[in-house]
Amino acid sequence: MHAIKLNGSGGPEVMAWADAPDPVPGHGEVLIEVAAAGVNRADLMQRQGFYPPPPGASEVIGLECSGIVAALGDGVRDWQVGDRVCALLSGGGYAEKVVAPATQLLPVPDGLDLGAAAALPEVAATVWSNLVMTAGLQSGQLLLIHGGGSGIGTHTIQVARSLGARVAVTAGSAEKLQRCKELGASVLINYKEDDFVAAVRAESSGADVIFDNMGAVYLSRNVDALADFGHLVIIGMQGGVTGELNVAALLRKWGTVHATNVRNRPATGHGSKAEIIAEVNRHLWPLVADGTVAPVIHAELPITEAGEAHRLLESGEAFGKVVLRVQDL
Ligand SMILES: NC(=O)c1ccc[n+]([C@@H]2O[C@H](COP(=O)([O-])OP(=O)(O)OC[C@H]3O[C@@H](n4cnc5c(N)ncnc54)[C@H](OP(=O)(O)O)[C@@H]3O)[C@@H](O)[C@H]2O)c1
Repeated sequence: MHAIKLNGSGGPEVMAWADAPDPVPGHGEVLIEVAAAGVNRADLMQRQGFYPPPPGASEVIGLECSGIVAALGDGVRDWQVGDRVCALLSGGGYAEKVVAPATQLLPVPDGLDLGAAAALPEVAATVWSNLVMTAGLQSGQLLLIHGGGSGIGTHTIQVARSLGARVAVTAGSAEKLQRCKELGASVLINYKEDDFVAAVRAESSGADVIFDNMGAVYLSRNVDALADFGHLVIIGMQGGVTGELNVAALLRKWGTVHATNVRNRPATGHGSKAEIIAEVNRHLWPLVADGTVAPVIHAELPITEAGEAHRLLESGEAFGKVVLRVQDL
């Protein structure tokens, strides 16, 4: 098969579409013929050498894909050869074939194109596990999403609205904020011009949940923007890894700070990828099937232009997800 190989680490030019050994499904795994792969910010970090795959995972970049089941490993009962699926991966998505644990597959709903389906597993798993399973977002609560126009942000807005929450977003341009509004956000904050703490406090006593991609640089302001009993959920480190936490400010609000990732979670058991995918399938997937929550795709490029796809995500131009088309299936 072909896969994207890294010639060292560095800029988008280190990626090349090259021959690679076919993966073979082991016990409990499924071989997928890949139609498309979603691009994530983590892929950019892996390419630069800052985010190595967890032990045992494929060295090939790619945390999600869509495609057709091509073969089953021993012990797989829930899937058939020929099923249209999308999958959460620990790596390996930028390739013509990939193996994934059967417990990390989701069925592609009728009517949903395989290209669009590739944009869903990583955002669905990240958003559902954090917003619902970790922070327990409730109807009527105020959610602040940093980076509302990101792949994660555009999905989070839709999920939060479907749960009945009010949504505040930050973004770096009026155009992106307008598009967040069309997805359901009602408090629009340009992080280059406005103070998000003041904007949230003008709306409410604070945000019940904050979904944060920035890490260190926003830590103290995020705590200031939290409501009593609020949850700050940090999923990204775009603004650094080391910040100062004012414990007194957090304690006065009975607040909680979470920091989580999906990729390094165990495959099975408590808090695992299998547990998250099962919850996504049960609760979020019906909303995807009926169109309440839809993939937001900025661009679809051929896999041979993976470098261009990374440049696009790095440029900050994208609103929503960038997808790589691997083959027509
Ligand atoms: N923990 C996990 O399991 C997990 C899983 C998936 C993703 N993530 C993280 O989630 C984040 C989004 O991922 P993605 O793939 O969706 O990335 P993406 O589409 O590349 O989005 C990056 C976002 O960062 C925003 N941003 C940049 N500077 C900002 C600032 N000062 N304040 C607020 N927002 C700012 C950008 O907003 P503008 O374009 O409007 O400037 C853009 O929307 C990344 O940090 C990623 O690492 C974590």
